[in-house]
Amino acid sequence: MGAHIIDGKACATSIEASLKPRVEQLITDGCNPHLAVIIVGDDPASHVYVRAKERACDRLGIKSTKVLLPGDIDFQQVVDQVILMNKDPTIHGILVQSPLPIGMDEVVITDLISPLKDVDGFHASNLGKLVQGDSSGLLPCTPAGVMEMLGWADVSLSGKRAVVIGRSRIVGMPQALLLSQKGADATVTIVHSRTQNPEEICKEADILIAAVGVPEMVTSSWIKPGAVVIDVGVNRVEDNSKEKGYRLAGDVHDEVSEIASAISPVPGGVGPMTIAMLMSNTVRAAELQNQ
Ligand code: GUN
Repeated sequence: MGAHIIDGKACATSIEASLKPRVEQLITDGCNPHLAVIIVGDDPASHVYVRAKERACDRLGIKSTKVLLPGDIDFQQVVDQVILMNKDPTIHGILVQSPLPIGMDEVVITDLISPLKDVDGFHASNLGKLVQGDSSGLLPCTPAGVMEMLGWADVSLSGKRAVVIGRSRIVGMPQALLLSQKGADATVTIVHSRTQNPEEICKEADILIAAVGVPEMVTSSWIKPGAVVIDVGVNRVEDNSKEKGYRLAGDVHDEVSEIASAISPVPGGVGPMTIAMLMSNTVRAAELQNQ
C-alpha cells in the first residue's frame, strides 16, 4: 500500500489564502508589505528560487524588490546594501539569498539584518528566541513550514519519537527545537555526519525529517512501518533524458512510500511551504513594524 501524500502545495495555498486579507488590511492602513531580496552572483538555482518568491509576492499583493549584485563585489558593498535596507521604512522584510560567493560570511550578513526585518528567521536574536521558547520572533521558514505541514496532515507529535537528519543552522537544528518545544512535545534525536548507526536510529522514528542534502539517501530499510516522513531535500541529479539535463531528487528514495504511512513529495512538498512561510513572515514583519 502506498503512503498518503502530504501535499505541501495545497497546504501552502491555504496559508496564502489566510494571508490575503491581512495584506489587504495593511494596504488599507497605508502600509504595503514589501520584501527586498539581495542576490550576490549568478548561482542558477538561486535565481529560480528567488523568481518563485517574487511570484508568491505578486499573488498576495506584497511588493517585492530584487537587488542583483555581481559575484566579485566587495563584501563591504553587500554590507552597505543591507544597512540601507534596514534604514528604509518602506521595506519590511530583507532576505539575502544563500549561497553567497565563497569567502563571504553568511552569518555576518544575516546578523546585520534588523531582527524585525529578518524574514528568513536566521538572525541570532530570532534563533535565540526560538531556543528560549519565546514566540515573539520570526521563525526559519523551512522548519516552520514542516511544522505547518505536520499539523495540516493531522500528525500527532506529543510523546512521539522524531528524528531529524541534519543539524544545519537554518533547517535541522531549528527543526529539532520546534519539534521538541512545548505544545509540539516530540522526543527528538538529531542524526548527523558523525552519528553511528544512523539507519538504526532512523528506524525508531515515528516522524522522520530528512534535511541532509544527499539525494535518495534514506531508503526503506531506514523506515519504521507506518512512520511519517518529511523530505526537505532538493537535490539536482544529472539526468540527460531531461531537457534541463537534471532532475530534482529529495533526500528520501521513492521506495519509502511503500513503508511509510505518509510522506511529503519532492517537488511539491516542503518547497512551496518554505515560500508560504516566507510570505507569512513578511506579512507579520509588516504588521509589527506598522503598529
Ligand atoms: N537559499 C536556498 N533557500 C534559501 C532560503 O530559504 N533563504 C535564503 N536566504 N537563501 C536560500
